[in-house]
Amino acid sequence: MSSPSGSRITGHRVLLGISAGIAAYKSAVLARLLKQAGCEVRVVMTQGAQAFITPLTLQALTGEPVRTSLLDPEAEAGMGHIELARWADTILIAPATADLLARLAAGMADDLLTTLCLASDAKKVMAPAMNQAMWRHPATQRNAARLAEDGWRLLGPASGDQACGDVGPGRMLEPEAILDALRFTAPEDAPAATASQEAAGLTVTITAGPTQEPLDPVRYLSNHSSGKMGYALAEAAAALGATVRLISGPVSLPCPEGVERLEVETALEMHEAAMQLAPASDLFIGCAAVADYRAERAAEHKIKKVEGEEGLTLRLVKNPDIIAAVATERAAGTGRPFVVGFAAETRDLEAYARDKLTRKGLDMIVANDVSRPGLGFGADDNAALVLWRREAGQDGALPKGDGIDQEMLAPQPKSRLAMAVIRRALSCLQDRRHP
Ligand code: C5P
Repeated sequence: MSSPSGSRITGHRVLLGISAGIAAYKSAVLARLLKQAGCEVRVVMTQGAQAFITPLTLQALTGEPVRTSLLDPEAEAGMGHIELARWADTILIAPATADLLARLAAGMADDLLTTLCLASDAKKVMAPAMNQAMWRHPATQRNAARLAEDGWRLLGPASGDQACGDVGPGRMLEPEAILDALRFTAPEDAPAATASQEAAGLTVTITAGPTQEPLDPVRYLSNHSSGKMGYALAEAAAALGATVRLISGPVSLPCPEGVERLEVETALEMHEAAMQLAPASDLFIGCAAVADYRAERAAEHKIKKVEGEEGLTLRLVKNPDIIAAVATERAAGTGRPFVVGFAAETRDLEAYARDKLTRKGLDMIVANDVSRPGLGFGADDNAALVLWRREAGQDGALPKGDGIDQEMLAPQPKSRLAMAVIRRALSCLQDRRHP
């Protein structure tokens, strides 16, 4: 695992919450990695967690007493629970069980960990881990969505073999991936102007906005894409020091500072520009809402109404799938760029996103539910489910499970979401280059 930006979490105060899942044995490794990364770590365990791993283990690894009870007079005489809640920069719960998700989603404070979560303004991150049927259950899905809306970042779960013998989503993300997520998102609240230069030296190409497919000299086929998300991505990548090229369909947004914009109208023009720029890019993000079809032939003159005819037949032909073409070229070429797609869906978000990730040969996909009011198309806010392919380990071993990890990003301004997406992509890119 690379640690190019490890310093960004040096001195970060992490309250590590451990709940009652078999993955708790990995929390010891996580505690150690956090310490090695320079974090201050304090551990709180639920009652059930202690059946899987002992407080003594975590105490030895962190060098700090481990808290297990809300009503412990001795511990409260040291650092009281409210003090502990204020102390934390981040509360990280790994593993987070279905029961803990339910209690947190309901706003309960029936043990030390849930009480701390309610009492703290810290950034909150969790890595759910449970049996796949429990994760898929509508109640758990409802709780996960509610927690994301409340501002929790949910890392994973990953899919694959489970300790109980099942196969499916519910595995806790590996400790390295969790640490990585903290590293690459810790200062996402920082204004862009103060962001670090972690993308310096990288070239990023982004497609944004709609395409317009002419039918005749005055009419076209298009869609409602505002370009806001793509422009926010360009701004975020530029703020992190990347050289950014924005291939933009017609939108009414100003070009972000420090970004080179290429204005196009049709999918064919966007395709041509993308194929030219992608091979020299480290990161290619397809955020444009490309028209799937264009008129086979745009009429030379304005199409006239025909008296007596109730209908008009237009023959449409398929446009190239730009991002799939970039991914295919990449597979045949230099290994560059890392390819990130977007998926706007109105149902079955995860299933459609997984399918698109695989079918188009992408490295990462950012899926959002456009049926949710106030989010997605045209809106200033967005929420997303991010899925990415995990690479083979250092020893060349294949990734466990289906090799796809995921993260839920809560509803937030597109500018912040863009920063989180760029950082996640940078983190994957680093892992590929320096496993
Ligand atoms: O298949 P769908 O249009 O839902 O896929 C969305 C993703 O594919 C987005 O990343 C979009 O920019 C990209 N795309 C593309 N070229 C197309 C259609 C979609 O690059 N012709």
